[in-house]
Amino acid sequence: MRSADERRIKTKRELQAYLLCSKMASSFYRVFLVIISLCVPIYCVSPSCPPSRGSPRLSPTKSTPTSQLSSSNINFAFRLYRRLALKTPSQNIFFSPMSVSTSLAMLSLGAHSATKTQILQSMGFNLTHTPESTIHQGFQHLVHSLSVPNKHLDLKMGSVLFIKKELQLQRNFLDNVKTLYESRVFSTDFSNPSTARQRINRYVEKETKGKIIDLIQDLEPLTAMVLVNHVFFKAKWEKPFNPLYTSKRYPFLVDKRTAVKVPMMHQMEQFAFAVDSELNCSVLQMNYSGDTVAFFVLPKKDKMGQLEQALSSRTLRKWSHSLKIRWIEVFIPKISISTSYDLETILPKMGIRDAFDKNADFSGITKKGFLQVSKAAHKAVLDVNEEGTEATAATATKLTTKSKDGSAHSIICFNRPFLLLIFNKATGTVLFLGKVENPTKF
Ligand SMILES: *[C@@H]1O[C@H](CO)[C@@H](O)[C@H](O)[C@H]1NC(C)=O
Ligand SMILES: *[C@@H]1O[C@H](CO)[C@@H](O)[C@H](O)[C@H]1NC(C)=O
Ligand SMILES: *[C@@H]1O[C@H](CO)[C@@H](O)[C@H](O)[C@H]1NC(C)=O
Repeated sequence: MRSADERRIKTKRELQAYLLCSKMASSFYRVFLVIISLCVPIYCVSPSCPPSRGSPRLSPTKSTPTSQLSSSNINFAFRLYRRLALKTPSQNIFFSPMSVSTSLAMLSLGAHSATKTQILQSMGFNLTHTPESTIHQGFQHLVHSLSVPNKHLDLKMGSVLFIKKELQLQRNFLDNVKTLYESRVFSTDFSNPSTARQRINRYVEKETKGKIIDLIQDLEPLTAMVLVNHVFFKAKWEKPFNPLYTSKRYPFLVDKRTAVKVPMMHQMEQFAFAVDSELNCSVLQMNYSGDTVAFFVLPKKDKMGQLEQALSSRTLRKWSHSLKIRWIEVFIPKISISTSYDLETILPKMGIRDAFDKNADFSGITKKGFLQVSKAAHKAVLDVNEEGTEATAATATKLTTKSKDGSAHSIICFNRPFLLLIFNKATGTVLFLGKVENPTKF
């Protein structure tokens, strides 16, 4: 049985007219930025704190392929997604799993005992099977790959530590943070929390080209360290949308009774598409220029819950294998997404408990004080719009000729809640993951 989304229609004339128009099309898709901040108040500066067991010795020059980390990271992404979905049912979700994972792995460099194993195991690593050094080398490779300048993809990620200037830090930790995570450390005066907050926010604003402002609303008086992790991502569709075809007020069904009006982009092109009859959903994959793709996943009515439960690296692989390129008419809402999470309330439920309470052991960061993570704020901003690369017009011209056989095409319309996943193929990581429940509520 075919769903309404897969109606097949003959539209030779429409198609030709459309493709002619799309020669002039310019389109675009932008995704920005994610932030994680971890504020670590110092609760005791007593000599009785546990002695450091020494930081891991890592060879910064030898990197292992990130593929080893890929499925752990993907599964972590989906587990975190389910936690967020549980916390805010029927609401929009959007975050950068890659960013969260990288920050946590970096934090684990300074952790010892259960604090460390909880972080790494909750991220999906089997420490018997995968040595810690392999994990960090994998992240080193990941961070490095994503930071290499690429003309197709504007992706800029960074991690920065703001540390109380009085705190004596472990040399080994600083070195590893710098070499493995290409991270920076700023000695910061936290005696005036308001000034420190402004300094951090100004830094983040500058790094994110003004896309994330006022990241930190308030800092506790006892804050000793803030870890900020940010990603700036701006990519263009390989096959852009023509803004002339964007409907200004298209109904989007938030639930059975409620519709909101959204700008709806529209184009007919060749895209990779699959129907997952097991999970009752349709999967559309759209290429960005470069090595990154977006998956738009549309479950049948009332099947969102089952889809969310089934998300895993295996599911993603299954979709990738079943995708077939075909002519398809797509309707995708133009959206601006902005979300914030306090991960310190969510990560403990995923098993990362000690890092956030009095059992924390961050003696790898400093021997002279007790540290615990008091805040882990995460903010993600995404713009979805029509833009693409100029090179795309040439592709569209070629396709006009091909379409002269008058082939039928499918339609997929994202006019009800759907999932969005932005995947970097080069590193096998989920850059962004989210659910659009109501495009007007971001
Ligand atoms: C971890 O890996 C080892 C060796 O591959 C295996 O024996 C063990 O069962 C794994 N542990 C978990 C919790 O998966
Ligand atoms: C997307 O990009 C891949 C190469 O990375 C290419 O093989 C594929 O044909 C592209 N898909 C479409 C629909 O153009
Ligand atoms: C998908 O739909 C079919 C037919 O409606 C149903 O039998 C099956 O249980 C559904 N699967 C899920 C995971 O909901």
